[in-house]
Amino acid sequence: MRTLYCGEVNESHIGQEISLTGWVNRRRDLGAVIFLDLRDREGLVQVVYDPDLPEVLEKANTLRNEFCVQVKGKVRARPEGQVNKEMATGAIEVLGLELTILNKSAPLPLDFNQENSEENRLKYRYLDLRRVEMTERLKFRAKVTSAVRQSLENQGFLDIETPILTAATPEGARDYLVPSRTHKGKFFALPQSPQLFKQLLMMSGMDRYYQIVKCFRDEDLRADRQPEFTQIDIETSFMSAEQVMSVAETMIRELFVKLMGVDLGDFPRMTYAEAMKRFGSDKPDLRNPLEIVDVADIFKDVEFKVFAGPANDPKGRVSVICVPDGAAKFSRKNIDDLTKFVGIYGAKGMPWMKVNDIDAGLEGLQSPILKFLNEESVNALLSRVNAKSGDIIFFGSDTYNVVTESLGALRLKLGEDLGIVADEWKPLWVVDFPMFEEVDGHLHAIHHPFTAPSNMTPEELAQNPVGALSDAYDMVLNGCELGGGSVRIYDQEMQATVFRILGISDEEAKEKFGFLLEALEYGAPPHAGLAFGLDRLVMLMTGASSIRDVMAFPKTTTAACPLTNAPGQANPTQLEELSIISNVKEDAQ
Ligand code: AMO
Repeated sequence: MRTLYCGEVNESHIGQEISLTGWVNRRRDLGAVIFLDLRDREGLVQVVYDPDLPEVLEKANTLRNEFCVQVKGKVRARPEGQVNKEMATGAIEVLGLELTILNKSAPLPLDFNQENSEENRLKYRYLDLRRVEMTERLKFRAKVTSAVRQSLENQGFLDIETPILTAATPEGARDYLVPSRTHKGKFFALPQSPQLFKQLLMMSGMDRYYQIVKCFRDEDLRADRQPEFTQIDIETSFMSAEQVMSVAETMIRELFVKLMGVDLGDFPRMTYAEAMKRFGSDKPDLRNPLEIVDVADIFKDVEFKVFAGPANDPKGRVSVICVPDGAAKFSRKNIDDLTKFVGIYGAKGMPWMKVNDIDAGLEGLQSPILKFLNEESVNALLSRVNAKSGDIIFFGSDTYNVVTESLGALRLKLGEDLGIVADEWKPLWVVDFPMFEEVDGHLHAIHHPFTAPSNMTPEELAQNPVGALSDAYDMVLNGCELGGGSVRIYDQEMQATVFRILGISDEEAKEKFGFLLEALEYGAPPHAGLAFGLDRLVMLMTGASSIRDVMAFPKTTTAACPLTNAPGQANPTQLEELSIISNVKEDAQ
């Protein structure tokens, strides 16, 4: 039906008769002449109907926006003065000779000239995707997946599929369960990631595996989280952490050069400890120049208990963020708002100090807590943060976690509010994560339970699990965790030790992961890997503000699909076959 795409017509086609198909983006009726902007996946082109062909003109007169049409016509240069430099096809137009209306369109339930509610956009997603911006994002996503495949296949990786109906994988979220009809009362889990299967593939000798794969996690949703998302999943045998990181870094660097014309250079490394200390986050946004500075040592001996308490407590933290030239930018009201903001993270208050004149000693400072501090500590503070006249200093003093989280979040907020986040790409690797974190007295794996510790025997790990570092690595780009992975445990004793530390009994480990423990007995090779969030990667590359905008059919923030009305009710026969009885009252559904 078509000789070329609308967006592809250019001056080289002048004089040619062509056939186009697409949708009426806009129709302008100038009486004697009708102009159409015809749109398809590749762009827009102007079609003109004039009175020389009255029958065709009459038909064009019946067109409305979003009618689907076939246009046959002759390409010609636009008359001088009518060239549209904003439009890729703006130097030419198509003189319409024939017109077939393939399908009419009712007025759309979305208005492409204004913002539509996200609920409505998702309900009519197939129409929302007609918008050039959305089409472009999906096209870009396809280029990313194609380039990923090329890069990994050039590096010797095999694309291997793993099951979607499987057993639970412990990535830390809730599972989506699928009831089994043939095994009554039993459930499959949808994979949170292909973690265990890719490790088993290494035990099969596949050596280098990759997959662009759907993963499912029932967790609280945010701008960068969806219940169903896509990973670029990678596993290798006989490679060190450094080598895997190099494979992954090469792939991301190649993508950016190829699709964005950007050279990201070598990615710097930062330990988890340094990231938490300086940026209050394990995914630091290095485009933001503000840093957290520790000052507990300065305030150990002051009378002000709010500082001295945490300063002398091994689990406490006393830190500041100094905002250059910030003094004049923050009124009492602004500071009150920021105090409320850090309150979300558990901070009970947020002392501050304005440096009005650095050369005027204590006189030059303004702060509600100045009277509680001695001159020596104040001077030490000013010199520690290299304060200048016009700066403002915000304090955090509490437990380590509260200060780290609240100042980490404050840093990001200040960066946004003050518009000081540089417009550049800042990738890095975060390494040397602790193996475990303590939550409510229990140890949890920071990555997942198959992550190997750095240089430790099982006995050493069992003796000091809290102090153990893992051989794991996260790739962070502009404050977003793009991907993460680790060297895996390939020794049965070490794996059993980690399960025990996590409070998983030998019996439970055997029941849930017996197949893995057994597989480790048959010559399992050393292996390591990682996974990227494809949606997050595309979101960053396209500048979208949510991963929903780079997915064709995403879910709402409450994990529903307004288009299909999923999740829906199952009919009673299906439930009976599955031996499932719902205890939800109908009107509560
Ligand atoms: P992890 O759980 O860190 O590691 O996930 C890897 C990457 O997947 C992306 N991601 C998500 N993207 C969108 N929505 C979500 N709900 C979501 N959850 C995670 C992130 C993240 O960095 N099996 C390990 C990897 C490995 O060790 O090889 C894993 O899944 O970008």
